[in-house]
Amino acid sequence: MRDAPYQRPAVLDAILADAAHAGFSMSCEDRTGSLLATLAASKPDGRFVELGTGVGAGAAWLASGMTAGACLVTVEADADVQAIARRHLGSDPRIEFVHADADAWLTQERGLFDFAYVDCRPGKYLRLPDLLALLKPGALYVVDDMLPQDTWPEDHQPRVDGFLERLPDVPNWRATPMIWASGLVVAARI
Ligand SMILES: C[S@@+](CC[C@H](N)C(=O)[O-])C[C@H]1O[C@@H](n2cnc3c(N)ncnc32)[C@H](O)[C@@H]1O
Repeated sequence: MRDAPYQRPAVLDAILADAAHAGFSMSCEDRTGSLLATLAASKPDGRFVELGTGVGAGAAWLASGMTAGACLVTVEADADVQAIARRHLGSDPRIEFVHADADAWLTQERGLFDFAYVDCRPGKYLRLPDLLALLKPGALYVVDDMLPQDTWPEDHQPRVDGFLERLPDVPNWRATPMIWASGLVVAARI
């Protein structure tokens, strides 16, 4: 058995090539992307949110699993980085790109979501209750990079450790930590 994805979004290699050119090394890895696409397919016509667009690799994977009636709001603080994602995915009418700090975005009423892929500090290490308040019962929540990454600042490990330690005590959700790919947590809102 190999755990390489069976399918990859057609646009992914072009996104990753631009990411390499721009020196952006924080895109999700293929195994994580494949899981995102599979989970996305389990939410037909769902409302998705991604915090931390990066250059759009995760969004490409999510979009590849989403049905035609689904929609994705993806939030990124760095306009230059998000511009790469917009260039490659901007023609997909299901995707709304938001240039904002996710912390500020979380302060505004956004309706409810069926799926959250949280890839920056707000909604994960900060303001987790506010993010969870945006999830419908049964909604899925995914984070990656729980295992040490080359891109981490020196002070990051305690942040991750604290998040993982708090997981069992978070009310109304069911989480599974996974030592797989970059280290994931997949959780369901109850
Ligand atoms: C790990 S990368 C995202 C990768 C992307 N989700 C993927 O799967 O390919 C994290 C991104 O979050 C962005 N970011 C960091 N802090 C943020 C914040 N407070 N609000 C919005 N975006 C933020 C960074 O600029 C970076 O592009």
